[in-house]
Amino acid sequence: MLDGAAIARQIRLELQDRVAAFTTVQGRPPGLGIVLVGEDPSSEIYVRNKLKAAGESGLRADLRRLPATASLHDLLDVVTTLNGSPIHDGILVQSPLPAALGRDAEQVVFDAVDQLKDVDGFHPENVGRLVQKRPYLVACTPLGVMELLARSGIAVDGARAVVIGRSDIVGKPVSLLLMHRNATVTICHSRTRNLPELCASADILVAAIGRAAFVTPDFIKPGAVVIDVGINRVTDAGLVQRLFPEGSQRRADFERRGSLVVGDVHPAVADVAGALTPVPGGIGPLTIAMLLANTLKAAEARCSASR
Ligand code: GUN
Repeated sequence: MLDGAAIARQIRLELQDRVAAFTTVQGRPPGLGIVLVGEDPSSEIYVRNKLKAAGESGLRADLRRLPATASLHDLLDVVTTLNGSPIHDGILVQSPLPAALGRDAEQVVFDAVDQLKDVDGFHPENVGRLVQKRPYLVACTPLGVMELLARSGIAVDGARAVVIGRSDIVGKPVSLLLMHRNATVTICHSRTRNLPELCASADILVAAIGRAAFVTPDFIKPGAVVIDVGINRVTDAGLVQRLFPEGSQRRADFERRGSLVVGDVHPAVADVAGALTPVPGGIGPLTIAMLLANTLKAAEARCSASR
């Protein structure tokens, strides 16, 4: 098991000195503005974790909440204010936005974030820079995946990597990062034929689909490195019973809470894989650590540019 939580703690420890130095020189901590629209239960948890981690690392983090009924105009007003704020170096608009804002809302909003404060790496300028292998701010989960591979001593150069999922948040950027580190990358998605067979050619398999336990042992080359990016909240008792044995801690957790967070990778994959990230405690904590790293990077760059 690859201990993402321990690696994330180490990264956050390494950031502390730079955060302290920035705060001394600037007379204020690096600042992050988080925007949350509506009350999506998963987003509430993610945002709470991001605020807590930022505070613990000495950053300033402010939450701007808008009701689910807010208009796109209201949301863009908040983004514009944060763009102009001298104390906010990073801006994160939590995805997904309420469906009522329209299908293109996320694109419009991510386009509106100042690219120098775009700690999510979703602005087209930052995406373009990544494509051209001159990245500035890169999406946090893909960065976390690369950091985990590097710090676990997993060789990427020359490896066959298969990424399941083609999202802008994970699949596309992680594929680019792997390619830039000289992996041979295949991107799979819902229309891919012979998916298990294709995945079984991977030395490194990244699962970013958003379907609980979708990746079963037949997808895995024995000894492969499996990175599970999925965070799926499961309420189906039958599924939990099929995935986890009677008397296990995970079953007990489910019975206590009525739900369980499960990755995209089936637990039985642990018997075939050479290395596997757990859920929870794998990529999730690394995503947060990279958000703090991106905020500090944006803060340092903004302040050295203004001197
Ligand atoms: N929703 C799920 N992951 C993310 C992320 O990395 N950033 C934002 N803004 N929203 C998300």
